[in-house]
Amino acid sequence: METAISGNIQGFKQQGEALVIKAAEAEARVYIYSPTIIRICLSKNHGDTDTSFAVIQKPVPDFDFDESAEFIRINTSALKLRIHKSPLRFNFYTADSKPLSEDDERFGTTWQGSRVITYRKLYADEKFIGLGEKTGDLNRRNTSYTNWNTDAVDYGPKTDPLYKTFPFFIGLHSGLTYGLFLDNPHKSYFDFGATTDEQMSWFGADGGDQNYYFFGAQGVPQLIADYTWLTGRMEMPPLWSLGYQQCRWSYMSAAEVLDIAKTFRKKQIPADVVYCDIDYMEGFKIFTWNKKTFAKPKAMMDELKAMNFHLVTIVDPGIKIEAGYQQYDEGVKNGYFATYPNGEKYTGYVWPGRCHFPDFFRDNVREWWGAAFKALTEVGVDGFWNDMNEPAAWGQNIPWMVQFGDKDMPEVRNAYGTQMARATYEGTRKLLGNKRPFVLTRAAYAGTQRYSAVWTGDNSGTDEHMLLGQRLVNSLGITGMAFTGVDIGGFSGNPTPELMVRWNSLGVYTPMFRNHAIQGSKMREPWQWGSTNEQIIKKDIEQRYKLLPYIYSGFYQSHITGMPLSRTLAIEHPFDDLVFDTRFQNQFMFGDALLVAPVESTRLNADVYLPPGNWYRLNSNEKFNGDEIVNVAAPLTDLPVFVKAGSIIPMQHIVQSTAEKGDDILELHIWHNEEPGTFIYYEDDGISYDYQSGAFYKREIGFEPINRVIHLSAAAGSFTSKYDKIQLVLHGFGKVKLKNEVFTLENGVMEIGY
Ligand code: GLC
Repeated sequence: METAISGNIQGFKQQGEALVIKAAEAEARVYIYSPTIIRICLSKNHGDTDTSFAVIQKPVPDFDFDESAEFIRINTSALKLRIHKSPLRFNFYTADSKPLSEDDERFGTTWQGSRVITYRKLYADEKFIGLGEKTGDLNRRNTSYTNWNTDAVDYGPKTDPLYKTFPFFIGLHSGLTYGLFLDNPHKSYFDFGATTDEQMSWFGADGGDQNYYFFGAQGVPQLIADYTWLTGRMEMPPLWSLGYQQCRWSYMSAAEVLDIAKTFRKKQIPADVVYCDIDYMEGFKIFTWNKKTFAKPKAMMDELKAMNFHLVTIVDPGIKIEAGYQQYDEGVKNGYFATYPNGEKYTGYVWPGRCHFPDFFRDNVREWWGAAFKALTEVGVDGFWNDMNEPAAWGQNIPWMVQFGDKDMPEVRNAYGTQMARATYEGTRKLLGNKRPFVLTRAAYAGTQRYSAVWTGDNSGTDEHMLLGQRLVNSLGITGMAFTGVDIGGFSGNPTPELMVRWNSLGVYTPMFRNHAIQGSKMREPWQWGSTNEQIIKKDIEQRYKLLPYIYSGFYQSHITGMPLSRTLAIEHPFDDLVFDTRFQNQFMFGDALLVAPVESTRLNADVYLPPGNWYRLNSNEKFNGDEIVNVAAPLTDLPVFVKAGSIIPMQHIVQSTAEKGDDILELHIWHNEEPGTFIYYEDDGISYDYQSGAFYKREIGFEPINRVIHLSAAAGSFTSKYDKIQLVLHGFGKVKLKNEVFTLENGVMEIGY
């Protein structure tokens, strides 16, 4: 096969927003999106349109550059790009000329047929994080990965690829940070020194353009902010979706669904959501209800609603081939299904048997699909679970000539799941009026945070999977996916009661807290594990509900800055080697205040690395000095969770669901430190989009140890908090006694001395 290096520059000129550089084998286009974001698009054949499934921003209209004999030079306030002319190479530096990322001098960008690869210099101390849902260690150095969305049945701790594609990684070296997003939905590859005897890293794809965004902001939070500025941030989720979610493949009838909901209420175990997996349908036909087992869905929904439960129903892309079935008939009549090049409809085999697959890459197909959710929304469903959208067909390999939109399958396969989630989100958003839908998807491409939450597919009921799942969640958070979860307990197999208890306690500190299990497994609800374990699980779920004001404020941060709730310690401490130590790599911050150390169910104590600062054990207030490895007790009743000194955590008293108003008291827990601490508290109605037009309630809460004062800034926004009072709960303040503990919440500035 011919190997063509992109060659020497033959000329360059400004053309619209781009600096266009002609080289022997290809044309490079350079765009600036912001002082810290520069895009390079190398192509042998630039198309007329510039489309992306991920990017929602536009480049700046023009920029300055100059040249020397050797280089074209582009400077922003934050970055220097030096484009070497012969041969064509792209090298990025900080404003003070420190190397951030440079092409390998020998190879740069290289085509082999339609496959394109960029080879990069590898720095001696360079570490890599990111790529979203990828197995392996936190530090991806010396590993390589493929992006090809796959129904990864029975995946293990090393399986690659899994279900999703997030071609965004962060490089860390020499005390500097950078990010790189390859926006190309073809099958793509990332190698972090694994196969090159540590000489180079490389990335590329089977086809399409070498279209990448370089991020030069310093600090991982800044890189996440820039990446999510470019690809979008999540909306505020419905508050109910942050409560406890009970799922199973499948609750087989309306009676069983109601029975599950009633048992939660009878046992006073808080919960908000119950799910219907594929068996609610008639013969697995999407947008139908089984006439026998779910004969009166509206009546079921009314009963669920009366108990403050929401229902999430599954939908798969596969539309059963059966004349007389509405979606099949409409799809055939209007040509909505993916086809072979000769126009014949593509047929694959999934749960319903032989199926056609909607072509979600077309606007009219997405509209049709979105409108069909009426069958679910009209009875009161407001959560929509999108599964099997890699897309999965038994046997996995969909023929490569199948057409999606105007493309062949391999060119866009990795974006199919996102386009399905988009169709679901856009359709249900219309149908639900001003109510927020909850959308959950298994397959995804960069940018999916704008439409949907994700879960990590079919994991297994083992300790190893619990820990791996945490790394997947933490890694997804780096790539813009803030609303994530795993099947708690593990989808396949039967967890031991100890593992179920432990995993559940970790679920409290997972953005989405959902218990789910495969058909035929032991029942998994909290009361299936003996009365002692039931009490522990109940207490953990209650802890989740107490923390909801903190968690919801954390989601507001994701909405505004892209920062996820579940944060690998590498976000705050990118140059601390202990953070990447395999003993501690699963640890994470849950929001600004809490450090969580996942521990296997078989161990009753654990070594935990506490980064610099002071820490308190959440459940005992025991104080620890940071910058230390500590050995702590980890009984099944108390997962090691630590609070960063100086943190402020708003909590509420236990409610049985997010719809319950509770007792009007917002607790403000403050853990003492010598330094001041602040927290941005956020609240809105949790249901509607009114927050987008000002109906929110936001204020900064701070404490100042020197002046011995706790203050609340004036409340911003037109929403009235559901709490009337605040109760101060001070931790580690020694003998301080407050005159009052409970205060009437006022909208103006409040100052409370202690
Ligand atoms: C897939 C999903 C799983 C679901 C099952 C049946 O395996 O990943 O969550 O329960 O299909 O719908």
